[in-house]
Amino acid sequence: MTTIIAVTNQKGGVGKTTSSINIAYYLGKLGHRTLLIDFDPQGNATSGLGVDKQSLRKTMSDVIMGKSKLSECVIDMPHSNLFLAPSTPQLANTEVELAQMEHKFVRLKNACSDISRYEYVVIDCPPSLSLLTVNALIAARYVLLPVQVEFYALEGLGQLLETMKLIRGGMNPTLDLIGVLPTMVDNRTSLSAQVHDEIKKHFPGKVFKSTIPRNVRLAEAPSHGVPIGAYDRFSKGARAYKSATKELIERIG
Ligand SMILES: Nc1ncnc2c1ncn2[C@@H]1O[C@H](COP(=O)(O)OP(=O)(O)O)[C@@H](O)[C@H]1O
Ligand SMILES: [Mg+2]
Repeated sequence: MTTIIAVTNQKGGVGKTTSSINIAYYLGKLGHRTLLIDFDPQGNATSGLGVDKQSLRKTMSDVIMGKSKLSECVIDMPHSNLFLAPSTPQLANTEVELAQMEHKFVRLKNACSDISRYEYVVIDCPPSLSLLTVNALIAARYVLLPVQVEFYALEGLGQLLETMKLIRGGMNPTLDLIGVLPTMVDNRTSLSAQVHDEIKKHFPGKVFKSTIPRNVRLAEAPSHGVPIGAYDRFSKGARAYKSATKELIERIG
């Protein structure tokens, strides 16, 4: 069976793409055939994995437009069990057209009927509660919520939880928050500890035990076009994502 996980938070810069790439990488490394879907028009997951956007014949944009099957745009990455469905800025135009299309909420879900050969699918969502994000929330079984441990961490999350509730009450009754992943944690500051406590209070039982530290190696890896495990596997960031991935697998059970 394929488990689909949407990595989402409508804020930008909280670590969605970094988490998507590195969790997908470690799922693959741990022996699970994994497809990473880049579902953000910025295409950061695509470039972060070293894929030249100019060279792409088929992308998620074609998939959503119904011009291509999902399996036709998938690239086999040079990392164990890791596959990528890439995106380019074209996806932003597609999103505009999507608003007028039939079945506009379920186009990603329908496209995902084509991917039973993967054990896990990780969807890197855009930083908004857009039609693309709604498509991801309807296609997914689980939501993974990266939260940057900083003063405004919880602001705006109410809206996402409300959207999840609506979707659960309608088009995707089994959608579940698999966990909140604290990112860019700086253990030296008391603010970090304070915010971390606040997140735990807000999401009882949902906060990952593994946290992701602020680590410059994580920010460097995408410029080399590789996941952290292929860039500096002994870095703090690499160890944190490996352990978060194991915890994700345990939580899914
Ligand atoms: N744990 C971390 N430590 C240091 N830098 C990070 C960390 N996580 C992400 N970054 C950097 O922060 C920026 C935003 O992260 P990103 O994953 O792109 O967020 P999002 O996808 O939510 O917009 C990127 O430049 C990324 O390299
Ligand atoms: Mg991103």
